[in-house]
Amino acid sequence: MKIHITENYNSMSEKAASIIIKQIESKPKSVICFATGTTPLETYKLLINAYKNKKVDFSKVVSFNLDEYYPIQKKDKNSYFYYMHKNLFDHINISDENINILNGDCQDPELECLNHAKKIKKHPFDLVILGIGSNGHIGFNEPGSSFEKRIGIVNLTSNTIKDNARFFSSSSQVPKQALSLGIKTIMSGKKILVIASGKKKTNAVKDMVKGKINEKCPASILKKHKNCVLILDKDAASQLT
Ligand code: GLP
Repeated sequence: MKIHITENYNSMSEKAASIIIKQIESKPKSVICFATGTTPLETYKLLINAYKNKKVDFSKVVSFNLDEYYPIQKKDKNSYFYYMHKNLFDHINISDENINILNGDCQDPELECLNHAKKIKKHPFDLVILGIGSNGHIGFNEPGSSFEKRIGIVNLTSNTIKDNARFFSSSSQVPKQALSLGIKTIMSGKKILVIASGKKKTNAVKDMVKGKINEKCPASILKKHKNCVLILDKDAASQLT
């Protein structure tokens, strides 16, 4: 793992955006797996600015996303489909047919995951962008998830439901399940970029970097990846030294 510690959230975001832009420069047809959550929001703003200033071209980029709530409608303001369009895709020149997001409104989640896995097989990930949950989850792979899982429907822990309730009117509104790429698929990415900011992530970051590789901390597996970069702000990294 390569670790960069930045002064604050903004410098973390600048570093992350520059890595994503370099990736697209070096391979315009890059397959990128995007993350949601609060952490990447500024990174996505910087990508939009770079696109507007003609510094990056998304026309050939193929996108996937880590996860989606289940069940949820695409038009729901809390769906990750909605998030990605509002915070990135609607403002850049990615083409619609290159956007792949698990459908949280599908009738048959097993079939949805199977079809999605087939698409991923055809489009191996060049770059996977990851945030980290305060309990060490990546994507929606909660503590205890098998490192061998490729994709599937998952039950969210009460910790994650509580963390994510801030976006909903109450925690009872948060879907109890999600569709998520599994850790095996995340690890298949040629490069992984993890971003984490703030004191709330301190313990998860410590477990990820310093703890044993253990399914109790899903992110700990990232230590095994050959090309994983962590961009942490000072607060998130405060227990590493
Ligand atoms: C959600 C997402 C994760 C994300 C995590 C952290 O649970 N499924 O992919 O990394 O939240 O989110 P935040 O960046 O808001 O702390």
